[in-house]
Amino acid sequence: MDNNTGKKIQRPFVCVCAGMSVDGKISNFKRECSAISSCDDREMLYDHRVVADAVMIGANTLRLDDSSLTVKTDERRQKRIALCRSAEPIKVVVVSDADNLRIDGDFFNKGEGRKIIFTTAKTSPEKIKELEKKATVHILGETRVDIGKALDILYTDGIKSLLVEGGGELIASLLENDCVDEIDLKIGNLILGGRNTATLVDGDGFDALSAKKVEFVKVEQHPNFLILKMRIVK
Ligand SMILES: NC(=O)c1ccc[n+]([C@@H]2O[C@H](COP(=O)([O-])OP(=O)(O)OC[C@H]3O[C@@H](n4cnc5c(N)ncnc54)[C@H](OP(=O)(O)O)[C@@H]3O)[C@@H](O)[C@H]2O)c1
Repeated sequence: MDNNTGKKIQRPFVCVCAGMSVDGKISNFKRECSAISSCDDREMLYDHRVVADAVMIGANTLRLDDSSLTVKTDERRQKRIALCRSAEPIKVVVVSDADNLRIDGDFFNKGEGRKIIFTTAKTSPEKIKELEKKATVHILGETRVDIGKALDILYTDGIKSLLVEGGGELIASLLENDCVDEIDLKIGNLILGGRNTATLVDGDGFDALSAKKVEFVKVEQHPNFLILKMRIVK
């Protein structure tokens, strides 16, 4: 329930899918979009994109990786269309200050997915005008995006399954708001280290009382990586 409006908040099913090194890092210390195993591919990610209504990323992931978040092959597109979905998932970015977001890269220009931006009053009115040429923009908060409201808006827009690809700050933000249902990880056989390297969940952290608990659903062992599927215990 939203305390301000008394309206019941609904949200999509939220699945986090990421590649992680064996020491919990999701990039390397140079913040490169790096491999997490010695034989890396993105097939697991594409499998998730193909069935998701929308894909969400944090602003740093957009700034650093600028992925198009598209679905890879024709066959996979057919699978999406067979599921009565549009050809590609909607792309969503969460950003407190969008003033330094570039709109000439792959996220904004490659692929067919509609774009949605959740931002705050920190973004200047001029930038909002510029972004509105490429995306639907929602201002939800003064300095932080109200994640519950953002997910409510997505649900009302018809998005019933949301794939979250990272990074660690956005995933922390979703977990803090109890907005994650499932985590699917590909754990590579590399150790990346680095005290400031992004991990799967960053943010301020959880203490003994607020720590999130998971139920392991599946573990699969491959020569260079493990697949681990978990559900968040509510
Ligand atoms: N291995 C993988 O599967 C994978 C997947 C995705 C990303 N990555 C890596 O992860 C790294 C980036 O991770 P990251 O943790 O630094 O960044 P991130 O989570 O992608 O983005 C963090 C930014 O998102 C915005 N944000 C998140 N939650 C918000 C909220 N509730 N309200 C307002 N703004 C919010 C803020 O934007 P502002 O900056 O405007 O405040 C924040 O600084 C990159 O190196 C990328 O390559 C890896």
